[in-house]
Amino acid sequence: MKKIPFFNYPALFAEREHEYMEVIQRVLRSGYYIMGPELEAFEDELAHYLGVKHVIGVADGTMALICAVNAAGISPGDEVLVSAHTFVASAAAIHHCGGKPVPVDCGADHLMCGKAARAAATHRTKGIMPVQLNGRTTNMDPIMELVRERQLVLVEDSCQALGSSFDGRFAGTFGDAGTFSFYPSKTLGCFGDGGALCTDDDDVAEKARSLRDHGRTSDGEVSRFGYNARLDNIQAAVLLVKLRTYDKDIARRRELARIYDERLSSIESIDLPPSPDADSRHFDIYQNYEIQADNRDSLRQHLADKGIGTILQWGGKVLHQFPALQMRGNLPNIDAVTKRFMMLPMNPSLAEDDIHYISDHVEAFYSSKAKRRA
Ligand SMILES: Cc1ncc(COP(=O)(O)O)c(C=O)c1O
Repeated sequence: MKKIPFFNYPALFAEREHEYMEVIQRVLRSGYYIMGPELEAFEDELAHYLGVKHVIGVADGTMALICAVNAAGISPGDEVLVSAHTFVASAAAIHHCGGKPVPVDCGADHLMCGKAARAAATHRTKGIMPVQLNGRTTNMDPIMELVRERQLVLVEDSCQALGSSFDGRFAGTFGDAGTFSFYPSKTLGCFGDGGALCTDDDDVAEKARSLRDHGRTSDGEVSRFGYNARLDNIQAAVLLVKLRTYDKDIARRRELARIYDERLSSIESIDLPPSPDADSRHFDIYQNYEIQADNRDSLRQHLADKGIGTILQWGGKVLHQFPALQMRGNLPNIDAVTKRFMMLPMNPSLAEDDIHYISDHVEAFYSSKAKRRA
């Protein structure tokens, strides 16, 4: 029997071990561990990749969100609309800046629904945070319309969507700031925690830069209370290696998604993410391959019995389903999705054979169910 873990960290490290060890050694020998040349080079290259003025490397995606929300001007008491299908970190960033996160329902692609966002907006709404989930960028047309009409602060949680685009525009570049996570399982993952934010606004950049370093400016003056939220040089050096071949990794993920789509799209009991070529407005990077499945828990058990790892994003619960956080909301679409969602393995260490093996067992599960019904 094959063994396909949901994610295979050692395999991905082994593929380029020599290159990683070389740059790690170089940083260690240089003695520059914090705020050094690798960080600067990574920020410059990522800014060039995204076509933005500023990239600021930070400790992780959560700190990217906190610095972005704060620097973009959300203040105590402000309501911020946030997609309900997200990691708690999106809402936590709003909360830590004194704002009130208001969860918004999602559409069929698991992303913020423009109509639901409009319906949730009140006179207290000051900001909006679409979450560019699973490597797909939200349909930004209705969101940008709302932003312009209400003059909202727009911070994208694009932690899962580096390189994804809508109408040729990269996730993270639509509004005041965008954020990225380099958590090891991310499309651009480092060997620990890491993150960045991007912006074209000089004032947002200046504020975010000082927030990540105790509120200090480049001459050492403390201009505000800040955090210790710097991206260290070893992680930046590893990220620079990976960024230089990033487009290849994305192409590989899109190829794997194409195979899943060919193999599974005719099964009525599951709903798949849009296929890579389904819609010319979206370029998806397939950070995750999140499906919806009937008899989900039995399917997961069936796949586990065949050596295939699957997971439920966020442990199976989204923002308003954690009572302690008191973010209640009437969100029927996402409530229905969370009963059926699960993620199949998706990362560049997978071989095409692995995707066929997984697909065979998904098919077998539903055809044996159909036979039992007949
Ligand atoms: C949508 C989303 N937002 C925010 C984060 C937080 O990023 P990090 O884990 O790097 O703090 C993540 C990471 O899992 C995420 O997936």
